[in-house]
Amino acid sequence: MAEIGKDIAKAKQILEAGDLVGIPTETVYGLAGNALDADAVAKIFETKKRPSFDPLILHTSKIDRVLDFVIEIPEELKPLAEAFWPGPLTLLLPRKSIVPDLVTSGLDTVAVRIPSHPLTRELLAALDFPLAAPSANPFGYISPTQASHVNDQLGEKIDYILDGGSCEVGLESTIAGLEDGQVTVYRLGGLDVKRIEKVVGKVQVMTHSSSNPKAPGLLKSHYAPTKPFVLGDLKKLIEEYTNKGIEFAVLSFNDSFQSMIGERNFVLSPEADLHEAAKNLFAAMRILDSMDVSVILAELLPDEGLGKAVNDRLRRASVQE
Ligand code: TXA
Ligand code: MG
Repeated sequence: MAEIGKDIAKAKQILEAGDLVGIPTETVYGLAGNALDADAVAKIFETKKRPSFDPLILHTSKIDRVLDFVIEIPEELKPLAEAFWPGPLTLLLPRKSIVPDLVTSGLDTVAVRIPSHPLTRELLAALDFPLAAPSANPFGYISPTQASHVNDQLGEKIDYILDGGSCEVGLESTIAGLEDGQVTVYRLGGLDVKRIEKVVGKVQVMTHSSSNPKAPGLLKSHYAPTKPFVLGDLKKLIEEYTNKGIEFAVLSFNDSFQSMIGERNFVLSPEADLHEAAKNLFAAMRILDSMDVSVILAELLPDEGLGKAVNDRLRRASVQE
């Protein structure tokens, strides 16, 4: 198992040696390595069992540094960088050749983000290279939002996890870029599209498609528990699975079914708060996935604000490969 702690100097030392560290961000935990060292980046793909056609996000500590890795921040995207960095926003920007091909899967853009988690900001500021960091989960599985989640799945393969507590946002960053000069969102995430539109006006949302060349990693099945994950009207589903005699667990938004099924029901937000639901989502999916049941039943959230990003994750979790 990995050591879990708050020792930034130790994390720095491991990263400088070309090895990997689990790092906290406000969205989810990342599996970090030196983004400018192709060997370290290769270790990330190996450790996650991630296909190499799926590019990584480069994390750095401030906007000035972003310009070391990209040719420019296009005028259309600058207001977003200024408004939301540090924070849960990733921008696709024209890369400089200093960024290894393995980071971008050979694309001419690199995904860049400045995370806001204080521990990781301190770490990034202390390093003289940026960090490539995908979510610290085996490819296709639920993203980690606590240090122990990283340890459960990758603890055998890495030495150290920087412990930053539970992730505040709980969903991956929102990914945006330019498509024919138009601001485009490629992945819904922790930054609500409405907040983006307040800054740059109406944007187009182009998610879902695994054939979308701009977002090769946005596979249809993702963020998935190992158990079948069924979405629908919970009252009906509970009745149906009870009648079939199949053991189930339930992930509900604000309604509780605990009087019927006890602790096999996880309620994301009793107060119907979308931020709270987003924050709890992945931990809840892990807890239900570890229960002794055959199937997880779940419902969609209201399709507004962060609810849209949560629904995106729920839908992908329900697609079985
Ligand atoms: O919140 C987050 O973004 C977290 C934390 C750790 O920062 N990271 C994260 O990384 O979610 P990952 O690797 O799990 O997801 C990155 C996504 C993938 O779907 C990948 O395909 C897409 O970003 N991506 C990366 N570079 C890209 C590029 N140049 N063009 C299009 N999509 C890109
Ligand atoms: Mg991921």
